[in-house]
Amino acid sequence: MNKVEIIGTGSYVPSKVVDNDELSHMVSTDDEWIVSRTGIRERRISKEENTSDMATKAAVDAIKSAKIDVNDIQLIVLATSTPDDFIPSTACIVQKNIKAVNATCFDISAACSGFVYGIDIAAQFIRTGRFSTALVIGAETLSKVTDWQDRNTCILFGDGASAVILQKGDKEGIISISTGSDGSKGDALVCPAVPVNNFLSKTKVSLNKGTVSMNGKEIFKFAVKILVKLVKEMVVESGYSLKEIKYIIPHQANYRIIEFVAKKLGINPDKFYTNLDIYGNTSAASIGIALDEIYKKNLVKSGDKILIIGFGGGLTYGGIIIEVL
Ligand code: COA
Repeated sequence: MNKVEIIGTGSYVPSKVVDNDELSHMVSTDDEWIVSRTGIRERRISKEENTSDMATKAAVDAIKSAKIDVNDIQLIVLATSTPDDFIPSTACIVQKNIKAVNATCFDISAACSGFVYGIDIAAQFIRTGRFSTALVIGAETLSKVTDWQDRNTCILFGDGASAVILQKGDKEGIISISTGSDGSKGDALVCPAVPVNNFLSKTKVSLNKGTVSMNGKEIFKFAVKILVKLVKEMVVESGYSLKEIKYIIPHQANYRIIEFVAKKLGINPDKFYTNLDIYGNTSAASIGIALDEIYKKNLVKSGDKILIIGFGGGLTYGGIIIEVL
């Protein structure tokens, strides 16, 4: 089996900052409530850029950091719950934008675990020798599926994109991977699409709102449970101690979830790298934005281990231990 290295990271967020005060003019909420329940202070919201626009910018950033020729990219996996269109895939739009003419491209839908699932898929293609260079992107324009009148959800989300380049290499950069799903609990976080309503349909259904709704408490419980489980299991499986993991990058959903998990694991919450205070929950983009930040700020050096963990709609979850090369 080939070894897989992460050779570049990238990210992009829209320039418009929407803080909690601005939201308090739209729904009955306030900065104190949002910060104390979630840790979120502000988020970036797209004015016109769609998911492919942000994904393209994150991809260009990652290609630059990896110092590769765009023609080397043989696979583009794009994780999103907010594609530009049903057809073509957002991955194919990015391919057109960056002119990655040698790539096979497709989208995956795994909500906030999408970035982890995407790396898992790309790594398998590289390990088996099918492809040698892959671009994995997590990108979301959640603002287009947010109900801006629903204070339970609209305070949580933001827009953004992130990317990594994986390549066949001499050293192993992906130490271990663990993923799973529980479709039986899918109702806890939904964003409905187009219902069947054709000339054969007996009952005429009206179009739904197409916005996200959620059982916040269910998701909170699931997130705490799965984060604790994955951290414990993956550390044991990798043969490293928790002390040897420099950072845990969780999906950036809620700071209170992280505090709960840190307490249950008996570790300092500072081990969890967070930037949700300034970006909110950007779903499939969130882990990659944080990973890019860690690399660009030189917070890690060669040999450091990072555990990334996603969880979210589906329900889905997954973690990867990365070694910085
Ligand atoms: N501002 C002010 N009050 C709000 C509010 C807001 N933005 N949103 C909800 N409330 C109110 C509720 O209406 C409720 O009022 P009531 O008691 O009069 O009915 C009260 O605050 C408590 O609501 P509750 O839903 O119990 O709050 P909570 O402590 O569970 O926090 C979340 C709500 C959404 C912050 C929390 O459940 C959460 O973060 N869950 C995880 C969500 C998540 O991360 N989803 C994405 C995962 S990928």
